[in-house]
Amino acid sequence: MLNDDLLPIVKFASNQDNEKPMIKIAIFASGNGSNAQRIIEYFQSSRSIRVAMVLSNNPDAPVLERSRKLGVPAEVFSRVEFYETDKIPAILRKNGISFLILAGFLWLVPGNLLKTFSGKIINIHPALLPKYGGKGMYGMKVHQAVIESGDKESGISIHTVNEKYDEGQILFQAKCSVESGDTAETLAMKIHELEHQYFPKVIEEEVLGNRQ
Ligand code: GRF
Repeated sequence: MLNDDLLPIVKFASNQDNEKPMIKIAIFASGNGSNAQRIIEYFQSSRSIRVAMVLSNNPDAPVLERSRKLGVPAEVFSRVEFYETDKIPAILRKNGISFLILAGFLWLVPGNLLKTFSGKIINIHPALLPKYGGKGMYGMKVHQAVIESGDKESGISIHTVNEKYDEGQILFQAKCSVESGDTAETLAMKIHELEHQYFPKVIEEEVLGNRQ
């Protein structure tokens, strides 16, 4: 017998979206992993997208523990495996991964991955590209450079990835002010807040807009 109170649940269960297969994404991260954690948590309640795995080049990266605690398998790979073998594309294929998210990942993405995931690799950079990007511009070095420049604003850039550091198509930017009392550390905190606020949502829009 159908109780009226149950009707919304019945509707939810037969929602068409629900019947589409989950789009699986993988996160690449080299360090702390606060963005990775935020992204995993955000998509835990999604009916379309799931973070299926986390990959890191750094066996000591806190991101590994963060992911495993949230029930997401995490794997470590070496430089040789990344640049000289097809191990990573094979793992991604085996796990049905459609998009790669770089969240604090420090290595340049090799050609085999760029080819397999053309237009489907998304990176976040902690400054307003094209300023303060390129090789060697990562983490606190970026914030230090912004502070030393005297710029009055900084922000985040979310972009697709190509064969050069930080030069893909910019999908989204958000700004914050740099005050006279700011240090690289206080600026890093402001930037992290922006990243946590926007990165998962931009990924969601991009992935849903780009699915085949
Ligand atoms: C972020 O600021 C990101 O923009 C940069 O590396 C940092 C990673 O932070 N590429 P976390 O590891 O996610 O805390």
